Amino acid sequence: MADPELRDALGRYLRQRIEAGERERLLVKPTRSRAVAPQPAVAKPAPLPAAETPAPAVPAAAIAGDSLQRIASDVAACKRCRLHSTRTCTVPGVGPATAGVVFVGEAPGADEDAQGEPFVGAAGQLLNKIIAAIGFRREDVFITNILKCRPPNNRDPQADEVACCRPYLERQLVVMRPKVICALGRHAGAWLTGAPDSMKALRGGTYHYQGIRVFPTYHPAALLRNPNWKRPTWDDVQALRAEHDRLAGNP
Ligand code: URA
Repeated sequence: MADPELRDALGRYLRQRIEAGERERLLVKPTRSRAVAPQPAVAKPAPLPAAETPAPAVPAAAIAGDSLQRIASDVAACKRCRLHSTRTCTVPGVGPATAGVVFVGEAPGADEDAQGEPFVGAAGQLLNKIIAAIGFRREDVFITNILKCRPPNNRDPQADEVACCRPYLERQLVVMRPKVICALGRHAGAWLTGAPDSMKALRGGTYHYQGIRVFPTYHPAALLRNPNWKRPTWDDVQALRAEHDRLAGNP
């Protein structure tokens, strides 16, 4: 590892984990499979203009004293990619740091960009119903996106935007360490599982992100277009709820 800052950060992280009693796990060479903590492949970002070149990403787990508030203020100041120049509000995410469930969507739309909160438009109303259907309240779960700024005209996230924004979601998940994660749609599915597959292919599989079980399912906006996907989504979120309860010790 050539970068001394990165090397120091990784050293600090490893010492913290060893102090936390994880020596044996850390000494095991990580394996990569669809079922074990995959590292999503993200295309190398296209070069950005000098003023927007992102600082090297420090491993998220190495940031001592990190918090959701600190991440939100870093997002508010972020100019890593082109999306900062067209955004109205940044949309870091909403919910408590203690949330046992994190829902991850794609990117803010027009309503979210105007209000600074994720999933407040039509897709958000449906997400609220999905959350309620499995017995949670919106205020008890954490809701966020892989991009924290709106892509113009709601176009798909570009690979360099996903890469620039990546440390924020990584840090959020390190801070919260939820019991389960729901990936809403194929972009979040690819981010969290490393498998850039269609949702049809992804859903129902067993995936983990950093040891946390990931449940990919259809994006609420896709359900609004195709109600036939509501049934499989219901199956997915029920499986998520069951795993959450199993981990919480109340099956
Ligand atoms: N779609 C998303 O993926 N995220 C939002 O916040 C709103 C709509």
